[in-house]
Amino acid sequence: MPNRICVAIDGPAGAGKSTVAKLVARKLGLLYIDTGAMYRAVTLKALKQGLNLHEAGGLTNLARETTIKLVPGLQQSVLLDGEDVTEEIRSPEVTRHVSTVASVPGVREVLVERQRQMAYENGVVMDGRDIGTVVLPRANAKFFLTASAEERARRRAKELEDKGYTVDIDKLIKEIQDRDYTDSHRSVSPLVPAGDAIIIDSSGMNIEEVVDTIISWIEKNK
Ligand code: DC
Repeated sequence: MPNRICVAIDGPAGAGKSTVAKLVARKLGLLYIDTGAMYRAVTLKALKQGLNLHEAGGLTNLARETTIKLVPGLQQSVLLDGEDVTEEIRSPEVTRHVSTVASVPGVREVLVERQRQMAYENGVVMDGRDIGTVVLPRANAKFFLTASAEERARRRAKELEDKGYTVDIDKLIKEIQDRDYTDSHRSVSPLVPAGDAIIIDSSGMNIEEVVDTIISWIEKNK
């Protein structure tokens, strides 16, 4: 009998969701699913094909025709139509355009359906923006992880610098604020905590503290 526990972890960019979600999944023996990677993969393909990012129909068709596979592992790999794009989907160019693509209702419909299917087949820890509100409204546990824009920009700067990118921290703070604004003001599935989500502000916390908070809540409430 497969383990079908579903844990939803939502929150803004750079709040540490993916690191935390991966560790929680490992501790609970569940599959980790990074839904942001799916929106990034569609964005990358659209950019490569030179599609107009303000043309919803073309983007929706593109999402429908695209195969995205998330391969579990220490570092989850992302296969876009069979090609490994794990690194490429994190480039600053994809990051700048992904909010636009993610605000297209048709693209969301296609990807949400696939996310629900994955959760139906496996027990999952899924991270994103609308997991507790739209994708898995009946998840066993929902968390909304956040941190100040400055703290999130510092964390993202470190990640990018480690990969060899040169970073302008003020620009990064501004990009994070802009992305928060687009994500929380779009008409479809805006970034808002589910009414029954536990809100965790990780600004003064390290990763282990956040993971422990989540695991203890799940242990206590299962
Ligand atoms: O978590 P991330 O930075 O990789 O997400 C990339 C973008 O995708 C971000 O702008 C928000 C959007 N996104 C979304 O709208 N819904 C999700 N479930 C996951 C991500």
